[in-house]
Amino acid sequence: MNQMTPPPKIEIIPSSAPFSEAQRSWLNGFFAGLLSSDAPAPLSAEQGAAVLQGPAGEGDDGEAPWHDQTLPISDRMKLAEGRPLQRRMMAAMAQQDCGQCGYNCNDYSQAITTRTEARLNLCVPGGKETARMLKALHEELEKAPASSPSPTLAPVAAAPAVTAEPGRSRDNPTPATFVSRSLLNKAGSEKETWHIDFDLSGCGLDYVVGDSFGIFASNDVGHVDQIIALLGASHTTVVRGKTLREVLISEVSLAPAPDSLFELISFVTGGALREKARALGRGEDPDGDAATLDVMAALQKFSGVRPHPEAFVEALEPLQPRLYSISSSHNATPGKLSLTVDCVRYVVGKRRRLGLASTFLAERINPGDEVKVYVQKAHGFALPQDPRTPIIMIGPGTGIAPFRAFLLDRKATGAPGKNWLFFGHQRSGCDFFYGDELNAMKTSGLLTRLSLAWSRDGQKKFYVQDRMREVGRELWTWLAEGASVYICGDAKRMAKDVERALVDIVAQFGARTTDEAVAFVGELKKKGRLQQDVY
Ligand SMILES: Cc1cc2nc3c(=O)[nH]c(=O)nc-3n(C[C@H](O)[C@H](O)[C@H](O)COP(=O)(O)OP(=O)(O)OC[C@H]3O[C@@H](n4cnc5c(N)ncnc54)[C@H](O)[C@@H]3O)c2cc1C
Ligand SMILES: NC(=O)c1ccc[n+]([C@@H]2O[C@H](COP(=O)([O-])OP(=O)(O)OC[C@H]3O[C@@H](n4cnc5c(N)ncnc54)[C@H](OP(=O)(O)O)[C@@H]3O)[C@@H](O)[C@H]2O)c1
Repeated sequence: MNQMTPPPKIEIIPSSAPFSEAQRSWLNGFFAGLLSSDAPAPLSAEQGAAVLQGPAGEGDDGEAPWHDQTLPISDRMKLAEGRPLQRRMMAAMAQQDCGQCGYNCNDYSQAITTRTEARLNLCVPGGKETARMLKALHEELEKAPASSPSPTLAPVAAAPAVTAEPGRSRDNPTPATFVSRSLLNKAGSEKETWHIDFDLSGCGLDYVVGDSFGIFASNDVGHVDQIIALLGASHTTVVRGKTLREVLISEVSLAPAPDSLFELISFVTGGALREKARALGRGEDPDGDAATLDVMAALQKFSGVRPHPEAFVEALEPLQPRLYSISSSHNATPGKLSLTVDCVRYVVGKRRRLGLASTFLAERINPGDEVKVYVQKAHGFALPQDPRTPIIMIGPGTGIAPFRAFLLDRKATGAPGKNWLFFGHQRSGCDFFYGDELNAMKTSGLLTRLSLAWSRDGQKKFYVQDRMREVGRELWTWLAEGASVYICGDAKRMAKDVERALVDIVAQFGARTTDEAVAFVGELKKKGRLQQDVY
């Protein structure tokens, strides 16, 4: 519903002009935009939801109102109530279509219900909540006859390709050589972001800009040894034909503690401790600390409980790969691949926690080491087919990664289209990633416009969407010329806020009501002129 007063329709192109009705209406909007100076109007919640709703999946009525990564799982499940099992399974997933599971959310749920995928724990952003819900829903599937997995659905398009060419899927990674890392932040930054280089010449992998790179990282040895000590075990104990230490380093996830570990602990203890472990295993939170319990914290919480190493390993989840947007172009530097990685480190209580893959890339591999990797093909995140099409790229923080790749690619291929980058981060002095390179691209003319937003330079937060609003008139002109828009980075807040800014700009400078602007942005999405790579 439109809560705003719609801007008046301005008739600039006379009805006698030699244009069709559609052309006249578009031109009126375009010129009205150039002449307008009204302040941007905020979006209502309904309008925001309408914009954010992704493409409808196949299934019951083809709608997927839960397909919004900002909704909590309880709301998503409510929206899917009464729908076929596959649709409810989709709603249980994190809705990011991030590809980490090897599918998008719709295809993963379809693969489970058609029984071509048995693993219920692949949704990394959904974490334990998603895995628990999928397990509960899977019980319904198990009760259904095997011959009728889902009444409404076609067979799944892309099951994980175990036999695929090496390096083309998470199920068949290939080794690539780590070359180097360099810190992108300068002194004074609160961030630790690394430019990472790989050499692909040994494995022969290639990629196109927009693709992501999957990394199989290993756990920190010191952390593993502390866990072995808590178990009271020897690191040479043989488990699965390897030493316990080897298995803990490279085969199992040590964060967060899975429900099955608490179930195991409940079997080997008694009394109040047993009750507590059982409650945690059911997803309850008896002491208000469940969210902070990684595997080590779980062992410390139940100190003295010492499961057998074999049972312990059995209770843990397999180590999952992590995806990173590729920040280089194979056309520009064949056989080379770069990433832009923000390092995850945080403290809980007295212990420093390490993000698995980001700290692996930041400190646990050395030049010349081989790492298991794969290229995750982008679905719906690519440069326009016509190299003349202008592009607007909005990527704060590590969201710049694929846009560096786009720019390097357009330079290498001589694409004549105009390029506009919105980059933002905390501080101009220390967080301007690739600053020299981007300024040089601007000087050379490759980067037509570079718009920057520093959130912590001033008293008030200033974000990329604030800069977009400031230059809304020009942005609308680019849109009217047929530009494609790309958003990359944080899925939870930034992507939503940037889309809202885009709607406001279309409404204000395109002389449309907010509802019309919502429809306009929705249409950009449908036509592939608004693409996102968010995580
Ligand atoms: C398609 C795609 C592209 C991506 N591209 C990039 C990219 O270009 N660059 C990039 O840096 N990342 C990118 N990511 C994110 C990346 O895949 C990883 O999720 C990220 O690096 C963290 O992984 P990790 O293994 O280091 O941390 P993990 O071991 O997975 O730990 C992360 C978890 O730690 C917890 N956590 C983190 N911070 C805190 C805190 N302060 N307090 C409490 N808990 C916390 C959260 O539960 C979080 O989920 C991308 C993701 C996708 C899906
Ligand atoms: N799963 C993980 O653990 C993990 C690991 C790494 C990254 N990520 C995700 O990836 C994102 C990118 O991380 P990053 O280090 O590159 O940068 P970031 O933390 O997203 O910050 C980049 C810039 O965006 C600003 N920002 C914050 N909220 C915003 C909003 N609503 N709209 C627009 N800009 C906003 C930040 O400002 P302020 O900070 O000053 O507000 C900062 O200037 C993270 O936010 C996170 O969601 C996740």
